[in-house]
Amino acid sequence: MTTSTTTTRTCPFGPLVVEYDARVLTPRPWTLAQSHWAVEVLSDYDDGARLLELCAGAGHIGLAAAVTAERDLLQVELDPVAAAYAASNARRAGWSEHVEIRVGPLQAALQTGERFRVIVADPPYLRSEAIERWPLDPVRAIDGGLDGLDLVRACLDVAAHHLEPGGCLLLQVAGPSQATQVEKLLATPVLKAGEVRAIDPERAIMRIDHT
Ligand SMILES: C[S@@+](CC[C@H](N)C(=O)[O-])C[C@H]1O[C@@H](n2cnc3c(N)ncnc32)[C@H](O)[C@@H]1O
Repeated sequence: MTTSTTTTRTCPFGPLVVEYDARVLTPRPWTLAQSHWAVEVLSDYDDGARLLELCAGAGHIGLAAAVTAERDLLQVELDPVAAAYAASNARRAGWSEHVEIRVGPLQAALQTGERFRVIVADPPYLRSEAIERWPLDPVRAIDGGLDGLDLVRACLDVAAHHLEPGGCLLLQVAGPSQATQVEKLLATPVLKAGEVRAIDPERAIMRIDHT
């Protein structure tokens, strides 16, 4: 049997079974660590704070956190195919009534005054010259521009304007060395770099707090 790029595949991801196809980034099991961290942070708030996910792809990272912590979730994703999977994955998990999905660039997805306690973001973070190492991945999902940080900067801008004071962003980065680069980008006094959880030299999650 031949498998076309539109053949739907499934994989387990924490409490979920995730649907996706070859047009979107294949869910990476290690990213469940980001869901777990979001649940940990959300547990500090017992008032039902809504979770925001930027660069949601098929939606599993934010959805696993939202289902586990029983929270509402707003997801933002540029690619309509990925966003359609995010919607079907929310339905499959029985959580779609708690999920809103905005399809478009994260730079324009939120309205003035919308605020969140917790944001998870998984932007493309590779330098353009490095993406050829990953020929099967959609370019839009991995190409972070010349220095790899174009979309990271956009996520920091969203965090600066849309986190509540005391809230935090959990940001995926290309390992501890990129986390150090991101710290240097925090020009605004409202954002402060916190703990970095490294998975390996090329993968990490960093916490950035709104002061
Ligand atoms: C690294 S992938 C992560 C996807 C998903 N979180 C996962 O783990 O598979 C980055 C995602 O960001 C999306 N993206 C790229 N540019 C974007 C933008 N300007 N606004 C919103 N999403 C964007 C891509 O389409 C892709 O789905």
